[in-house]
Amino acid sequence: MLDIEKKINDLLQEVNEAQLDNSSDLETFRIKFLGSKNILKPLFGELKSVPNEQKKEVGQQINSLKKSAQIKFDKTKEALESSSDDKEKIDFTRPGEPRKLGSRHPISVVRNEIISIFERIGYGVSEGPEIEDDWHNFSALNFPPEHPARDMQDTFFVEKGDKEMALRTHTSSVQVRVMENSKPPIRTISPGRVYRNEAISARAHCFFHQVEGLFIDKDVSFADLKQTLLYFAQEMFGKKAQIRLRPSYFPFTEPSAEVDVSCTICNGDGCNVCKYTGWLEILGCGMVDPNVLKASGIDTETYSGFAFGMGIERIAQLKYRVNDLRLYSENDVRFLEQFKSAF
Ligand code: PHE
Repeated sequence: MLDIEKKINDLLQEVNEAQLDNSSDLETFRIKFLGSKNILKPLFGELKSVPNEQKKEVGQQINSLKKSAQIKFDKTKEALESSSDDKEKIDFTRPGEPRKLGSRHPISVVRNEIISIFERIGYGVSEGPEIEDDWHNFSALNFPPEHPARDMQDTFFVEKGDKEMALRTHTSSVQVRVMENSKPPIRTISPGRVYRNEAISARAHCFFHQVEGLFIDKDVSFADLKQTLLYFAQEMFGKKAQIRLRPSYFPFTEPSAEVDVSCTICNGDGCNVCKYTGWLEILGCGMVDPNVLKASGIDTETYSGFAFGMGIERIAQLKYRVNDLRLYSENDVRFLEQFKSAF
């Protein structure tokens, strides 16, 4: 065996047995066997002194050594890259990234709770359009033509074709639709968004949410209304809650009343939330005016009923002690994520 052949064999063995465990081993290997000053280059020089009849064979040996080095390099590189990739993808020792769970909006929480309270005593839920005609929002509800609530100051008017429509100012409009489309007995609540043309401040907003209720049957009395509202107040604010009714006026109810609940903070003793009165206003109510029943085709000789309406924001305010109405529509997650609830 020629000297050069021995060298080639030794190098081939070195290539085959090289332990390349990391990228720096691999780089050393590359410089030695494949770099610009690699160890194989002098062999081509030595080839000149090989006897002619063996030149071809020895040349081939050098070439196949070079090939082996290249293959070894490529394979090792691929193996190192894929194994380091895997390590990054699945590192079971890294701490997990907790996924944030969303929470329901406080208005939805309170709305759902109100619905659930009334469903337990047999009320169904009805909904209607937010863009309403004059009939359902005002006329059928016994609003006289000159009533100030129809005024541009309170109501947003919009045009639909050549018809003037309004953004509903209360969900009493839905109750008119229910009366028109069903026969008594009627027991329904109408939750939904309503609009009023008010300057936005901590205490007022141009839209808010209501739940209004309607009960129509034979022999419905004011006592039924009072008991229903007491039941609601105690379910919502606790068994100790009391209510009081103050005479009031709504075009669609007669007699009408405003309802206060005993202060949920001081239990009636007096504090700054109830302005030392011991009472907080929560809703309006009354016996449905016969004009309203007639307008929707209900026989006033046989049937009577009561209605009530409350603002969801107002109930939420009392429940959560949030004093600024604007917070409910600003979508600040830091505010919203505080309301975790079963509803
Ligand atoms: N619709 C009234 C309002 O928007 C509330 C109400 C409903 C009052 C039913 C009495 C009876 O304020």
